[in-house]
Amino acid sequence: MVTFPDIKPVEIEIGGKKRSFDIDDPKLPNWIDDKSLSSGGFPYDNKMNKDEYAAELEKLQIELVKVQYWLQATGKRIISVYEGRDAAGKGGLIFVTRAFLNPRSARVVALAKPTEAEQGQWYYQRYVAQFPTAGEFVLFDRSWYNRAGVEPVMGFCTPEQYEKFLIETPDFERMVITDRIIFFKFWLDIGREMQIKRFHDRRHDPLKTWKLSPMDIAALNKWDDYTEKRDRMLEETHRSWAPWTIIRANDKRSARVNAIRYILHRLDYEGKDKKAIGEIDERIIGAGPKFLK
Ligand code: ADP
Ligand code: AMP
Ligand code: MLT
Repeated sequence: MVTFPDIKPVEIEIGGKKRSFDIDDPKLPNWIDDKSLSSGGFPYDNKMNKDEYAAELEKLQIELVKVQYWLQATGKRIISVYEGRDAAGKGGLIFVTRAFLNPRSARVVALAKPTEAEQGQWYYQRYVAQFPTAGEFVLFDRSWYNRAGVEPVMGFCTPEQYEKFLIETPDFERMVITDRIIFFKFWLDIGREMQIKRFHDRRHDPLKTWKLSPMDIAALNKWDDYTEKRDRMLEETHRSWAPWTIIRANDKRSARVNAIRYILHRLDYEGKDKKAIGEIDERIIGAGPKFLK
C-alpha cells in the first residue's frame, strides 16, 4: 500500500456531532456505513439492481456507438464536462460512457495541475487546446471549473482570479455554443458520509489506492467550504445556453445510467431508439442549483 506520511485520525463535525475518523482503520465505522447511501438527501434506500444496471448500460452503450457514427458522418462536435467533489464518481461515469467508443474520436481529458508555462497563459487556454475537431466527442474529467472549486478552496488562485472566473465563464461558454459545439456540464453530487466511505474504500483496496490523493485527505475537513463553492458556482454559471445538469450520485449505477440517458435524449442522431434509452429518473437528475434545495 502506498503510504501517506501524515494521515492521522481527523476530527469531523457531522450532523452536529464531533467524531474522530481514522482512515487507516480497516473497519469503516457504523456512523458512516449506515448513512452513506442516504447522505446528502439521496432519494432511495437501495442501489439500482446490479443485473438491471448491466442490462440498461449495455443498451445505452449501443446507442453511444450510433452517436459516434453520427458524429463522424456530420462532423458535429461534443464537449461533456464532469465535475463533482473528490470521489463523486466522475472517473467511473466517464469510463463507461467512453468504453466502447473509438479512442481516436472519443477522448478523455484529465489535465494535471498547470505547469509554469500554462500558469503564464490565458486561464482557459490549455482547456481550449483540447477542444474537439469535427466528429469528436471530448469528455473532461474536471475542467476550467477547478477555478470555482479546488483552486479557491486550496488557495491555488487569488480571490480576484476566482471572482473573475465566475463573471467570465458564462461568456466563455457562450462562445462555445455559438460555434455550434454541443455542450454538456454535469455536477455529480454526493453526501458527506458517502465521500468518507469512498475515501476509506480507496485506502484499503489495492486497485483503488492510486485514486486517493493528498488533496482528498485535505478535502475531509473542507466539506463546508466546498459546499459553499459548489453553490456559488451553480448559481453564477447556470445559464440557458450552458445549464448545469445535476446528478445525485450516491449510487454509481443509477448515476451512470441516467447521465448517459440525458446525453442521448438531447442528441438527434441517426437510428436513435428512444425505447432503448429509457426514461430519465427525475429524482436522480435535475437542472441547476434549485435541484439541490
Ligand atoms: P483528482 O481528484 O482529479 O484525481 P486531485 O484531487 O489530486 O485529483 O486534484 C484535484 C484537482 O486539483 C486536479 O484537477 C489538479 O490538477 C488540481 N490541482 C492540484 N494541485 C494544483 C495546484 N497547485 N494548482 C492548481 N490546480 C491544482
Ligand atoms: P469507480 O469510479 O470507483 O466506480 O471506478 C471507476 C473504474 O472502475 C474505472 O476506471 C474502471 O476500471 C472500472 N469500471 C467501472 N465500471 C465498469 C464497468 N461497467 N465495466 C468494467 N469496468 C468498470
Ligand atoms: C472519481 O471517483 O472518479 C472522483 O470523482 C475523482 C476524484 O476523486 O477526484
